Amino acid sequence: MTTTEERKRELWSQKLQSLVSEKAEFAALPKPLVLSKIALLEKKNPKLWRECLKLYEKESSEKQFLKKQAIKEAVKFVRAELRVVYSSFLSPKHAKKEKLLASCKTEDKVLELLTLHKSSKERFAVYEELYERIFLWSGKTNNIVDIACGFNPLSFSLLRTIFGKKLKVFACDMNKDDMEFLQAAATKFSWNLKTKAVDVMSEECLTLPEVNDPDSLVFLFKALDSFEHVQRHWSKHLVSRLPAKKLVVSFALNSLGAHKKFETKNRGSWFVKYCEKNGWSCEPFVLGSELYVLVKKNYV
Ligand SMILES: C[S@@+](CC[C@H](N)C(=O)[O-])C[C@H]1O[C@@H](n2cnc3c(N)ncnc32)[C@H](O)[C@@H]1O
Repeated sequence: MTTTEERKRELWSQKLQSLVSEKAEFAALPKPLVLSKIALLEKKNPKLWRECLKLYEKESSEKQFLKKQAIKEAVKFVRAELRVVYSSFLSPKHAKKEKLLASCKTEDKVLELLTLHKSSKERFAVYEELYERIFLWSGKTNNIVDIACGFNPLSFSLLRTIFGKKLKVFACDMNKDDMEFLQAAATKFSWNLKTKAVDVMSEECLTLPEVNDPDSLVFLFKALDSFEHVQRHWSKHLVSRLPAKKLVVSFALNSLGAHKKFETKNRGSWFVKYCEKNGWSCEPFVLGSELYVLVKKNYV
């Protein structure tokens, strides 16, 4: 590709990124993540990509340009890909989250906001039992890292009750607004919680000091399916690379989001096999509609 062609490709990608982000649902997602879905469009549908590039180069009014079928299709493709990994998990009330938080006078009321995200909503009735079970296995820890956290950090008060007052949580997910919202809840109730909006599949995330703390207990709740949708086997890379010695990984036993081919049979069995192959101790159990796998890397 010549430099001019590369420049055109870059400009069109940026234009498409801004068109995709016009919808509030996608406005606070990290730019590199949106760009990665745009790169996927180029790879999966090169014909549509070339057509869009030609239209972009043509001198036409913005109004005419936006009416073109190819442009609409490109925007639709990228938004659909982002829905699979992000917005398909949100409840309709998610848009009112700040208002709902403002109305929570006590920490126990905040727990109800766990229902704003389909993942934590499903777990709502079993949270205490889950954390007690994890605690029995892991022992006391002062440090939890919740990767692709959704709204799970809103269960902070339960975590602290079970794991101890010194508990510190680092949580990350892709949407800036969501992470600011969790941080606002933390400030309101004086939780020792730090959040960050980041693409978990990026080097930026994997090199964060919090993610690289060997003494942390890592939560990867219902996250691996999203990573596998983007890049097969990437979850194995993540789990191997994390220096944490103890991890809790979970898999949904029902389809929550927009994963088209959601195979519920043998859910997570590939992950259990992978842990066993590495000689890690691994304890799977089902609670509610989720399979949890407690993993201890054998150099503990
Ligand atoms: C099924 S939800 C699970 C949420 C939470 N762990 C729970 O179980 O309550 C999957 C989460 O992964 C996040 N996610 C998926 N891919 C991601 C990525 N590349 N970077 C950051 N977050 C990601 C989504 O935004 C979503 O919140």
